[in-house]
Amino acid sequence: MNKKVTTLTLKNIYKTFMQGNEPLRVLQDVNLEIKPKEVVALIGPSGSGKSTLLQIAGLLEEPSSGEIFINGEECSVGNDTIRTSLRRDYLGFVYQYHNLLPDFDALENVILPQLISGVTYKDAKQKASWLLHRMGLDEREHHRPAELSGGEQQRVAIARALANTPKLLLADEPTGNLDPNTADNVFLTLLDVVKETGLSALIATHNIDLAHKMDREVTLKDGKLIDIRATNFIAKGENFY
Ligand SMILES: Nc1ncnc2c1ncn2[C@@H]1O[C@H](COP(=O)(O)OP(=O)(O)O)[C@@H](O)[C@H]1O
Ligand SMILES: [Mg+2]
Repeated sequence: MNKKVTTLTLKNIYKTFMQGNEPLRVLQDVNLEIKPKEVVALIGPSGSGKSTLLQIAGLLEEPSSGEIFINGEECSVGNDTIRTSLRRDYLGFVYQYHNLLPDFDALENVILPQLISGVTYKDAKQKASWLLHRMGLDEREHHRPAELSGGEQQRVAIARALANTPKLLLADEPTGNLDPNTADNVFLTLLDVVKETGLSALIATHNIDLAHKMDREVTLKDGKLIDIRATNFIAKGENFY
């Protein structure tokens, strides 16, 4: 084995948007390393650049400058083939709004991304069933999104994000649209499953109590990423799957 690679490394990331003629410098020399199995909370006020950072880390947006390494592979700009395959094979996304396919039931929504990745139907179904079970949705497999509550929809969206066994989960205020009680429950289940499956995560949240439950907390201030609670995180145990 060569030296250990991080799941995600962001090096000297800058991102500037043009708003009219004015440059808006959202990220200014952001640096971040996430180790295998490490779960990091990204907190910060609205407009501080959390979504921009997650989009860049998720290879959905290119930085103005800087380097991104996913599982040791440099993938900051260009090479869409590498970026697309890393997105498909290594990354899972959860957004504030679930974006489930309305004409498919919960089970199918979790099966489909696996079929696209070449998993057999039988294996995809088994995995989807397990994930929905783990998210507490045994009774909801055959409900379409419109027949689910907001919390249940987000649970399905989380199951879908985990369907292809990502190494890194990127979640952008995943429970931001839910009422506080439901949000806490869904969030705690998310954290449990992330820990159980042994993936790394970067999760934007406004909820300080939930942030405290993660391994580490970082925040964005004036475009810089600052560690506000560091730990001597050491990954334990084997991956669950
Ligand atoms: N595509 C874009 N074009 C111009 N400005 C943008 C764009 N995306 C985000 N911004 C601006 O960048 C800043 C950070 O936005 P965002 O990353 O969404 O913050 P957060 O997720 O922390 O609320 C905001 O001022 C926002 O208006
Ligand atoms: Mg945001």
